Amino acid sequence: MIVNVAIDGPAGAGKSTVARAAAKELGYIYVDTGALYRAVGVCALRLGVATDDAAAVEGILGSVKVELKFTNGEQQVFLNGENVSSEIRTPEASMAASNVSAIPAVRAFLFDLQKNIAAENDCIMDGRDIGTVVLPDAQVKIFLTASPEIRARRRYDELTAKGQQVEYDDVLDDLIKRDYNDSHREVAPLRPADDSVTVDTSGLSLEQSIERVIQAVREKIQ
Ligand code: DC
Repeated sequence: MIVNVAIDGPAGAGKSTVARAAAKELGYIYVDTGALYRAVGVCALRLGVATDDAAAVEGILGSVKVELKFTNGEQQVFLNGENVSSEIRTPEASMAASNVSAIPAVRAFLFDLQKNIAAENDCIMDGRDIGTVVLPDAQVKIFLTASPEIRARRRYDELTAKGQQVEYDDVLDDLIKRDYNDSHREVAPLRPADDSVTVDTSGLSLEQSIERVIQAVREKIQ
């Protein structure tokens, strides 16, 4: 039996770090679906297309190829054959991803890719609509969240550790704006699936958060 674990939640809740570590422990692959929206966003930025112009973004999809490859369990994202795994991590790419992710045609464009990976692999897939839309039959669904200030602090530490010059207040503002976008869009808004378990990581260490997720999986999967 293929095991699918869906982890959804707002930006900066620790989804990717927690999901990656839990997947490693469980022997599953970790699929970061935000990278797909980021790749489409980067493509639009490169082409000079406004990322909030639905018709214009839809117009470029015919010439966009997004692929995920897994080497030693690590996901790499390719845009038209080019590895863009680093380029998708800038604040501009984050906002572009949030904008393009509100466009129904973009979500439809990336849907099969996500479904196909989950059909063939034991995986932990993280995103915003995995438990609600992409994998409604996932055996385990987790909604991972934390307060906006804690999420912004974590995101700030992550970006500055990579040498990016950012201000904490800008990171917090961006995050609040993205939360709003992601949870108020008409198509597949961010919300906990009815059958999900909510894990608030505000007061948890990274290790405790990972343990909660592994525990939730083991409880469901014998
Ligand atoms: O998880 P992330 O920060 O890399 O996601 C980037 C953006 O993509 C985020 O603002 C919302 C969007 N997204 C989405 O709409 N659905 C997903 N399954 C994953 C990400």
